Order: sequence, then structure tokens, then C-alpha cells
Amino acid sequence: MKKIFALALCAVMMLSVLAGCGGNKNDAPADNTPAQNEPAAPAENTPDAPEAGGTIGVCIYQFTDAFMTTYRNALQEILEGKGYQVTVVDGANDQAKQNEQINTFITQGVDALIINPVMTSAADQIISTVKNAGIPTVLINREPTAEQMAVYDKLVYVGCDAAQSGTFQGELILDTANKGDINGDGKVSYIMVQGDPENIDAQLRTEYSVKALKDAGVEVEELNLTRGDWMRERGQEIVANDLAQFGAQVEVVFCNNDDMAIGALQSIQAAGRKVNEDIYLVGVDALDAALNEVSNGNMTGTVLNDAVGQATAAVEQMELLLGGKTYASGEQSVYVDYVKVTPDNVKDFMG
Ligand code: BGC
Repeated sequence: MKKIFALALCAVMMLSVLAGCGGNKNDAPADNTPAQNEPAAPAENTPDAPEAGGTIGVCIYQFTDAFMTTYRNALQEILEGKGYQVTVVDGANDQAKQNEQINTFITQGVDALIINPVMTSAADQIISTVKNAGIPTVLINREPTAEQMAVYDKLVYVGCDAAQSGTFQGELILDTANKGDINGDGKVSYIMVQGDPENIDAQLRTEYSVKALKDAGVEVEELNLTRGDWMRERGQEIVANDLAQFGAQVEVVFCNNDDMAIGALQSIQAAGRKVNEDIYLVGVDALDAALNEVSNGNMTGTVLNDAVGQATAAVEQMELLLGGKTYASGEQSVYVDYVKVTPDNVKDFMG
């Protein structure tokens, strides 16, 4: 009896699926069938033919972030240049606020999302939200794990390999005349100004910058490590305090990004120190302000974090998703290379 009921239910379900197909808006109404030799009207909403001028929602973790400002401006320009309607919103470093923004975009029916998460730890929640809504999504700048991304095949991450930028910072110090050991005591004494440690860029730059020195056989001494949350004012405060405490012992100032390095430079100068003479200073991003300082000799070097390259790649991946591409697990990260910037090549990066 149960079996018969199940079969009957199946039949009803099949009928309703067929009825659903009959209601497809691509079907031409019976009284309007095109004449035989007329070309068929182009199909709407086919997966490989994204509408020109589709709508895109872009969520940025915080508008006041210097690097993400360059990045979001590049994204907006590229997307608008291609005829998309773009709305870019500021998460104001508040994950709850960003979750609402994502939900609003979904309710509005955007064609795709580009999301710079406020917190990497919120990736699971973000991914399940966009998956349930079936929205093709490109995550940028804050990389989740491969396992987190694997649950949704219309999701891809575009960014850089954070470890590489740390290694390059270490190499910038190794390339100096005394490999960072200014006072010749056989070890490099440094302070580390860290970004938001919740973010993998901050974790890996901190680790790999120092690892590059150790791997080259250089002895290191960490005088202090302080989180500066990527912000210029924090870089300034931290380095002012560290220089007051450790004075001439400080040979190298590692900053996880350029904005903090620019703040650090203000304190280095205020303390009467001179970069590349009695202290070294490195950052990451290649912000315009940092490129100027590298070229003036006030920063030892920086690492290009290619905002335009990443924005271009993010839009490319978004268009592939709109064209119906799905991603296999383990293949959901697309990387753009970092580039070392020194006084020798800095001109190549200046506008
Ligand atoms: C950049 C930082 C920025 C951070 C934001 C990093 O890749 O180097 O400047 O603050 O991303 O997540």
C-alpha cells in the first residue's frame, strides 16, 4: 500500500515538474510562433549569455582602509566600464552590518556578489548565505580555507599568496649592505607592527618575513610585536612607543602594510632616526605614499599588492561564474603575484 502511494506521489511530482517547464518564460506563446525561416529570438537567461549591464553588489570590509580604497575604486571603474550596474557598500569593519548588506543585495536580486569579508572567521556563514541564494560570488582580499569554499561550487577567491609578501619583506632586509644587522652584534633586532591578526595576510606576513631571515642563517631578536590593525595612526603610536622603549636597539621595523609603515616613518623621523642609515623600514602594498618614500630613501622597500591586477582578476572570475563556470574543490583560489619594490625599480611603479 505504502509503495503504491509512493509511486502515485512520484507521478504527481513528475507532472508538476513538466507543468513547471511549460511555464518557462522562454517558451514562445502558441499564437506568436515565429515563421519558419525567421531567425529564432535569442534565448534569455541562458547560463553562458550574461545580460549586458547586469547588477553587481560589492561589499568592502571598511572604506577607510587605504589599500582597499585603491582596490574598490579599481573594481568600480572596471565593472562600470563593462556596463554593469554596481553598488559598493561599506561594512564599516562590522560583520553584522556586512551580513545585512549581503542579505539586502540578495533580496534586490543582484546577478553576482564580490565580497571582501570583515572577518575571515565569518566565511562559513557568508558562504552558506550566498549558496542558499544561489548567487555567484567572488571573495576577495581575506582568504578562507579551501575546505570552507568547497561547499559551494559557484564561489571563487581572488587574492595573493600572503606568505610570498612576507618572504619578500625579509628579502628586502637581506638585500641591505649589512643584512639588517646595523650595529654588527650578530643579530637583527626588530619590531613587528602587525595588521589585524584575524586576517591571514597579517599572520603570514609576520611569520614569513622573519622566516626569510632565519632561512638565510641570520639570527633574529624580536623586541616587540604589536597589532596595529592596518591603520596609519596605530603604526605611528606603536613605533613611537617602541622607539622610546628600545631606542638604538631597533634595527628593523617590519610593518604588515604600507599605511602602518607611513605612520611608523613619522615616529622614526620624530625620534631623529634616519631610514637606511640607522634603521630599516619595510611595508607591503606599494601605496603611492610609500612609493614616494622608497624613492626618497625614507623606506627601505615595499611589496606591490596589485590592486588593479586583483580587481581585474576578480571581474574576470565573476564573468566566468556568470557564464556558468563551477569550481572544483581545491581549485577555488586564484592568485595574483606580489612584486618586490626597491629604490632600483620603484620608478616602474610610480604613476
Ligand atoms: C593589505 C592591507 C589591508 C588589508 C585589508 C591587505 O592585503 O595589505 O593594507 O589593510 O589587506 O584586509
